[in-house]
Amino acid sequence: MRVAERISVIGTGYVGLVSGTCFAEMGHRVVCVDQDARKIDGLLRGEMPIYEPGLQALVAANLEAGRLDFTCDVGKAIQQSDIIMVAVGTPAQPDGDVDMSQVKSVLHAIAAYALSSKIIVMKSTVPVGTGGWAENLLRNRAMPHLAFHVVSNPEFLREGSAIQDTFHPDRIVIGSEHREAGERIAAMHAPLGAEVLHTDRESAELIKYASNAFLAAKISFINEMAHVCEKVGANVTLVAKGMGMDRRIGPHFLNAGIGYGGSCFPKDTQAQLKLAQNVDYDFKMLRAVIEVNQLQRQRFVVKIEEAAGPLDGKRIAVLGLAFKPNTDDLRDAPSLDIIPALQERGAVVSAYDPAALTQAAARLPGVSLCTDPYATVYEADAVVILTEWSEFRQMNWRLARCLVNTPLLIDGRNMFEPEAMRELGFTYVSVGRQT
Ligand code: UGA
Repeated sequence: MRVAERISVIGTGYVGLVSGTCFAEMGHRVVCVDQDARKIDGLLRGEMPIYEPGLQALVAANLEAGRLDFTCDVGKAIQQSDIIMVAVGTPAQPDGDVDMSQVKSVLHAIAAYALSSKIIVMKSTVPVGTGGWAENLLRNRAMPHLAFHVVSNPEFLREGSAIQDTFHPDRIVIGSEHREAGERIAAMHAPLGAEVLHTDRESAELIKYASNAFLAAKISFINEMAHVCEKVGANVTLVAKGMGMDRRIGPHFLNAGIGYGGSCFPKDTQAQLKLAQNVDYDFKMLRAVIEVNQLQRQRFVVKIEEAAGPLDGKRIAVLGLAFKPNTDDLRDAPSLDIIPALQERGAVVSAYDPAALTQAAARLPGVSLCTDPYATVYEADAVVILTEWSEFRQMNWRLARCLVNTPLLIDGRNMFEPEAMRELGFTYVSVGRQT
């Protein structure tokens, strides 16, 4: 039997809640801490603060088995664990630098409450150098006889498939300046049977930013390619397929559309750009990746206008609001830029999303939110797809065709075969493919 560690996870957001629950499932004893008492009470009753397929059942099973607990008592959690995972938010500040205030307050709590030596695992996405800075802070503030080893162990899970990603990771990256601490964290992941890469701490911290920046670059590249395809009469889906068959390129993250959103890529690409600037390096390619992504949203609004004609008074039905399917997350979703731009041009917008309607009510004023896709498209002058939920693939489009005013479908996610939609009687406009 492998060693069951006593772990506390501080910060019960996406990363903290999912990884804490998965470590419990692997047999460790985990307590997840958050200062939000309502969230903790809800979790103890089995209510999830986020939408993530499979999470609720996994939390319930591990609570029941006594391996998982939730608390607001950070001091007790710190004292009762040997490994402390930091999974608090690291949002961007207005100047692009990373706001480290939440990480700092966790470190202050560790220094104040720790009565024994600890391994601190940095799960939050933090700037390079954070590990060293954190160790110094702990050394200066905590009881002098205690040892603190800060290990960088970046998280690569995706929203919507977070549990699958955690149990089947491509790699575990462990950046440590202390060999035993690094090995103990590797052993903690042993049940996963995943490949482990041991690095110095700075490299591990950078791997997270570099990976997200590279994935964002793939998306911006294919989106630029899509514009070229439209101009020369090519099909971006086929171009991406042909490119992806080269193993050096790979088939993933080459779906053209309205660009990336969410809580990670936009924030992390900006942070990486700022990090480079702070060391006097102009990361030109990353700057272009970010710019292309912003332009992609504006260009899509122009595409809608070109297809539908002047938008003043037009009824536009939007299908999908979340930044991607299988999540209710609206953070930096393309819909938050595209819909207000349509409204500014006088369009009357109705919208539907299978999971994000509650969040959308506060973020998208003036939009008539519907509880099913058919009510949304009723008497629409154009239907616009912003998120590729499988529910839209399975929709009865023949019925939708009868409900709309004008059979114009503008698909920002290339969900359908153009031929199939044309056969149903739609004028079908997509990204990087011929209309
Ligand atoms: C991303 C990374 O994929 C994770 O590895 C990482 O751990 C996470 O950020 C993080 O830093 O925490 P996530 O933001 O959940 O995960 O979502 P993705 O599935 O990567 O999608 C991001 C955005 O890219 C979405 O808006 C999606 O629609 C867009 N996208 C993705 C495309 O436009 N085209 C593609 O081919 C792929």
